[in-house]
Amino acid sequence: MKRKYRNGQIVEGVITGIQPYGAFVSIDENTTGLIHISEISDEFVRDINYFVTQGERVIAKVIDSSDGSQQLRLSLKALNYSSRRNREDKGYRRANLPSSDLGFTTLAEIMPQWLKEEEKEMVKVDLSHALLEGNVLDYQEEVNRIHEMIHQKSGKGNDYLGWLDWTENYDKDEFERVKQAAKRIQEQADVLLVCGIGGSYLGARAAIEMIQGPFAKNNLEVIYVGNTFSSTAITRVLEYIKDKEVAVNVISKSGTTTETALAFRLIRHFMEEKYGEQASERIYATTDKERGLLKPLADQKGYETFVIPDDIGGRFSVITPVGLLPIAAAGIDIDALMQGVKDATFELNNPNLEENSAYVYAVVRRMLEKQGKSVEMFVSYESHLVFLAEWWKQLFGESEGKEGKGLLPASVNFSTDLHSMGQFVQDGTKVLFETVIRVDEPIEDGIVPSEEGDIDQLNYLAGKSLNWINEKAFEGTLEAHEVTGNVPNVLITIEKTDAYNFGYLVYFFFKALAMSVYMLDVNPFDQPGVEVYKKNMFRLLGKK
Ligand code: PA5
Repeated sequence: MKRKYRNGQIVEGVITGIQPYGAFVSIDENTTGLIHISEISDEFVRDINYFVTQGERVIAKVIDSSDGSQQLRLSLKALNYSSRRNREDKGYRRANLPSSDLGFTTLAEIMPQWLKEEEKEMVKVDLSHALLEGNVLDYQEEVNRIHEMIHQKSGKGNDYLGWLDWTENYDKDEFERVKQAAKRIQEQADVLLVCGIGGSYLGARAAIEMIQGPFAKNNLEVIYVGNTFSSTAITRVLEYIKDKEVAVNVISKSGTTTETALAFRLIRHFMEEKYGEQASERIYATTDKERGLLKPLADQKGYETFVIPDDIGGRFSVITPVGLLPIAAAGIDIDALMQGVKDATFELNNPNLEENSAYVYAVVRRMLEKQGKSVEMFVSYESHLVFLAEWWKQLFGESEGKEGKGLLPASVNFSTDLHSMGQFVQDGTKVLFETVIRVDEPIEDGIVPSEEGDIDQLNYLAGKSLNWINEKAFEGTLEAHEVTGNVPNVLITIEKTDAYNFGYLVYFFFKALAMSVYMLDVNPFDQPGVEVYKKNMFRLLGKK
């Protein structure tokens, strides 16, 4: 006789098979179940075999019994109620398989459809406007080889691959300290000065602006300093903050970068004059654990310090205290951000080009380069993504612009720049392709009001949402550039610009970058070219 199972019921069964996507369970002679990998544990599940073994008896919760189906969807992690609720409260997206009315089809047959229904790709890459002349899947073998090289940490620059499995390895105590320091900064200050350059500030600025949007609704103003020699920039900042409560996060991995060190000297003097001995309680230093000049200075002055790991380069450091402290101080949920990184670490850990959107993007860049493109233009339709573009430019420019190789990463913000660069994109030399970052849900939206008399003749838009208009601008531009201008467009879509998606997206770009740059046979992780200007400048400055 067939037994009936209902949602929420706790059942006992035996693991009969393990696949990369889940574990099969036999419940009784007529009933089987599947524990999808996302239902194994709240912890990061790299390999299901670490959690269950074939033949093992497990107790699981029924999360979908599909009205009498003898093929149940089960969860192990659902039995850990408190952690599950915590995830749901935070709105994390990965959870149950979608409901299905597929009846009695076998689990193996159902699985591809479940996975499709689950729409598990957080970052979607659409190539239907990319004007590709070949097939992405033809690169599968090369991708397999490089994937292996990345994960075996055997390629060029492999001692800088700490970001690859960072969510498993980061220092949890330090992460807690970051959160506490962020809270203290919020209590201490009206203004946080983030003093750093390149990888030591771009990630934090990209995150804060992307997640909060313009005119952030919080009480801490973040000002970025130490990223220029402009005398006007630093002088104006010091003038602007003179009557405000100030905290400082100085960030330098090498601890010797001149732009940052020079600005920090001026800021240090300002802070010591303003707060005397208490200045040290308002200054936080993020630097190498021992090398460089900043660490001894911080120790001598008694600043709280945070570590930039040896095996993570500046442009990958947004997921370390380099990015996390300013991001948390700005009031952003860094647990959600790290969850995004963690989920991406798992979901993009698969060389299959049919399943790994980061690798698809990596390959497409190289294919378009072979089609004669030398510039990749990063396009966004949200002004608060301008610094995401700056961060992306550094990531790709510094990683692949070597040995006379690489695409030039450029950026525009539409529709603003349609009134400047738009002309070139449409009609200029055919050197570029566009990579458009699209966001499904804007942070804010509004409705166009109707107006009597319609003097500005905008009543045709009355009642429409502002985001809908932005969408139409995108669609019209896409058609203009692709169809009329013959400019390839690669579309990358994320759901929203929250902390989780930011974390996911940066890891997506890290993974794409590693694949794409290794395809050029270039070391993605060094930046020898940036030393040349420094050498000349130091000579001119008379540095001994
Ligand atoms: O990505 C990089 O390595 C660089 O952009 C550095 O982040 C930048 O030069 C700042 O270096 P530092 O953190 O040593 O001051």
